[in-house]
Amino acid sequence: MPVLGIETSCDETGVALYDAHRGLLAHVLHSQTTIHADYGGVVPELASRDHVRRLVPLVRQTLRDAGAAAGDVEGIAYTAGPGLIGALLVGASVARSLAWAWRVPAVAVHHLEGHLLAPLLEAAAPEFPFLALLVSGGHTLLAEVAELGRYRILGESQDDAAGEAFDKTAKLLGLGYPGGPALARLAERGDSTRFQFPRPMTDRPGLDFSFSGLKTYTMNVLRDTQGTGQDRADVARAFEDAVADTLVIKCRRALRLTGMKRLVAAGGVSANRTIRQRLRDLAAEENAQVYFPRPEFCTDNGAMIALAGCLRLQAGQSDPPLICARARWPLTELTPP
Ligand code: KG4
Ligand code: ZN
Repeated sequence: MPVLGIETSCDETGVALYDAHRGLLAHVLHSQTTIHADYGGVVPELASRDHVRRLVPLVRQTLRDAGAAAGDVEGIAYTAGPGLIGALLVGASVARSLAWAWRVPAVAVHHLEGHLLAPLLEAAAPEFPFLALLVSGGHTLLAEVAELGRYRILGESQDDAAGEAFDKTAKLLGLGYPGGPALARLAERGDSTRFQFPRPMTDRPGLDFSFSGLKTYTMNVLRDTQGTGQDRADVARAFEDAVADTLVIKCRRALRLTGMKRLVAAGGVSANRTIRQRLRDLAAEENAQVYFPRPEFCTDNGAMIALAGCLRLQAGQSDPPLICARARWPLTELTPP
């Protein structure tokens, strides 16, 4: 069953064609970072307008790349939330219109379910159940994933998401938007022994996170330096180490608490090389397996939405033909198809 996936929840337009038997047939992505860079963050109205311009040509390109015709598509999956409402409505409108024109079913996909299932795009895919660490620009959470659509939140961020903390700290370091990958590059030549940053909320029980304090800590440490290139690299390194350590401590706790032996890491921040290595080390120590999507499927993309939608369509789900989207949509409201 070839399923067209459409992702427009924030600042990337992602389209993909995924087939349950043949796997991923094609995927394309248009990133809007140059549009928003001057503003230091995503401007919702500009995001919506760019999705309008890009989406239909990207659908055509995806079909062309896959050597497929419109008539080959048997279902459509689109991100219906959470995200920027205007941006989501562009994807929902196009997806619903295509489904109506092509007379195929369509399903509304939860963006975070897409992220959590992204490792299933890989050859070494995890089986249910598993423990999932989702670290993106908008969310940070640990969840027990019993099966498709059954998620129990074990812990989440009380303030900034991990990606948001990376982006805000990168801004303090004078790096452009989005700052996560730039901060990671700077950290590579930093000295890990010079500064010791706190590991927030690790000294008390529980699996919640808090990252906003790290940003303030960074600001104070940076103020006491000359602000040279090496100073900034050392600060970036200390920040990255603190985030990585904090995530590892909470994941270790969650593995032990649940007795799970499979850990999935997904979302933009899981593309971070230091964090990936630290989670691999953790898995080895805890006799567990860790699964990641390839880095390009850690950040927003159409492939994860096509896959999540394909699983739901295959299980018989088909949502009523209404164009709707939800800016807020708790993951725990989902049910199995
Ligand atoms: O999952 P995603 O594409 O969007 C949301 O759903 O939020 O995540 C984007 C976030 C941004 O905050 C970005 O700075 C961060 O992921 N990010 C990284 C890296 N690559 C992306 N953070 C740290 N290191 C990276 N290599
Ligand atoms: Zn995302």
